[in-house]
Amino acid sequence: MDFFVSTSAPSRQRTDCAIVGVYDKGALSETAQALDKRTGGRISRLVKRGDIRGKSGETLLLTDITGAACERILIVGLGARSSFKRKQHRKALATAIATLGRTGAHDAVSYLGLEEVPDADQYTLARAAVEVVANAEYRIPDHKTANKRPKPSLKRFGIAVASRGARTEVERGIQHAQGIVAGMAFMRDLANHPANVCTPTYLANAAKALARDHRSIKVRVLNEDECRRLKMGSFLSVTNGSEEPARLIVFEYYGAARSQAPTVLVGKGVTFDTGGISLKPPANMDEMKFDMSGAASVFGTFRALAELELPINVVGVVPACENMPSGRATKPGDIVKSMSGQTIEVLNTDAEGRLILCDAITYARRFNPDVVIDIATLTGACVIALGNHYAGLFSNDDELSSELRAAGERADDRAWPLPVGEEYAEGLKSNFADMANVAGREGGAITAACFLGKFTEGLRWAHLDIAGVAYQGGSQKGSTGRPVPLLVDYLLNKQS
Ligand code: BES
Ligand code: MN
Ligand code: ZN
Repeated sequence: MDFFVSTSAPSRQRTDCAIVGVYDKGALSETAQALDKRTGGRISRLVKRGDIRGKSGETLLLTDITGAACERILIVGLGARSSFKRKQHRKALATAIATLGRTGAHDAVSYLGLEEVPDADQYTLARAAVEVVANAEYRIPDHKTANKRPKPSLKRFGIAVASRGARTEVERGIQHAQGIVAGMAFMRDLANHPANVCTPTYLANAAKALARDHRSIKVRVLNEDECRRLKMGSFLSVTNGSEEPARLIVFEYYGAARSQAPTVLVGKGVTFDTGGISLKPPANMDEMKFDMSGAASVFGTFRALAELELPINVVGVVPACENMPSGRATKPGDIVKSMSGQTIEVLNTDAEGRLILCDAITYARRFNPDVVIDIATLTGACVIALGNHYAGLFSNDDELSSELRAAGERADDRAWPLPVGEEYAEGLKSNFADMANVAGREGGAITAACFLGKFTEGLRWAHLDIAGVAYQGGSQKGSTGRPVPLLVDYLLNKQS
């Protein structure tokens, strides 16, 4: 999809479809008024007849336009003017794209960004518009042999600017969003693959391919022997039961002087989580192919970084493996030694994410990081706590926590802070090892974070539990591409 800036008046813009809004009670937006005037009152007549009321979610498509240069006009309900904010702007565009998808339009221009939106500037609106449109056009790389969904006909999408002065802001918004959506699509493709396609080896090859496409990215892949030499006993204990070999994938992107300490992103890459010997129940177990979403978000973020050529240093560390039961699998009660030297009693083999992350975090120390951020579909408890709207945000550094939270707000990819206190770590005590890998049921997302906290001493560290936000279940089953927008926004704001 191509995105462009439009500076023409709505009536002068040559396009297959002009998208304009109508507020509650049929109040025409300024652009709708302009088109209404040129088309001999077509829009106001329809409003008078009650064909469109301006409620959020409504659309009405007008064709055979005379008096204006466009082929079609798509009228979108915007709801009450006083409550038209960023969120409503996104929703209106999403609705418009859904309707537009049922037409043969090859290009369209949105005038919705010209509306008064109190909580967003032109940059933010343009960025949101590109994200909404591009994500709506995303198609799962499916394996269907019939009834292929037709490719969307929309090829070019224009965003109208309010003034020539706003042009550079809008262009910057479009450019940033294009990096973000490329990263999201990359993440979604990886995560949507079934686990018999997307294995640790597949991920390693995808990383190498990314490095081939972008010279600014270097990738190194460590095999199990190399991980053993690094004494990653905790990581390797998770892959014991699996035939598929584990991999440790390391990305390096240097956009700034080498002397600048990098941000290290650590992504959980469990390509399938059966629970191991602590086997999961069958219902929805297929969704555990998404248990590499943290890893996929790191892949997506590197894709965005390279496309945007950001002047910062970032390292990615992705431990990738399966969690399978077998005669060789780790058993409850087994004790493993992590790369940090600390021993862990594995009371529940289904709490495997933290076991691979702790060694990856220890490995991250060799890069003398400015900050370490791990991203993981870590706990069902986080989904119970926060649902699907906010990721769980944990940190040992208040400033880092606020920066990530603000990035999530700006990017419409939110995270909510939860505590990581010593008091929660009590439950991780073990009679046999330095710690157990699980505590009780209560506060499960927090105790998981506390476990990771035992490996982050002296680091500025944050943990994003994305179990609720990284994918959807049900009829919309699939990867969401989150939290790529949050991560890229954080990195964009680190430039200065
Ligand atoms: N991958 C799961 C977490 C998960 C659950 C993600 C549901 C998405 C949806 C993780 O490895 C896991 O199994 N966690 C356990 C931890 C428990 C054994 C302490 C969980 O959440 O039940
Ligand atoms: Mn698990
Ligand atoms: Zn898992």
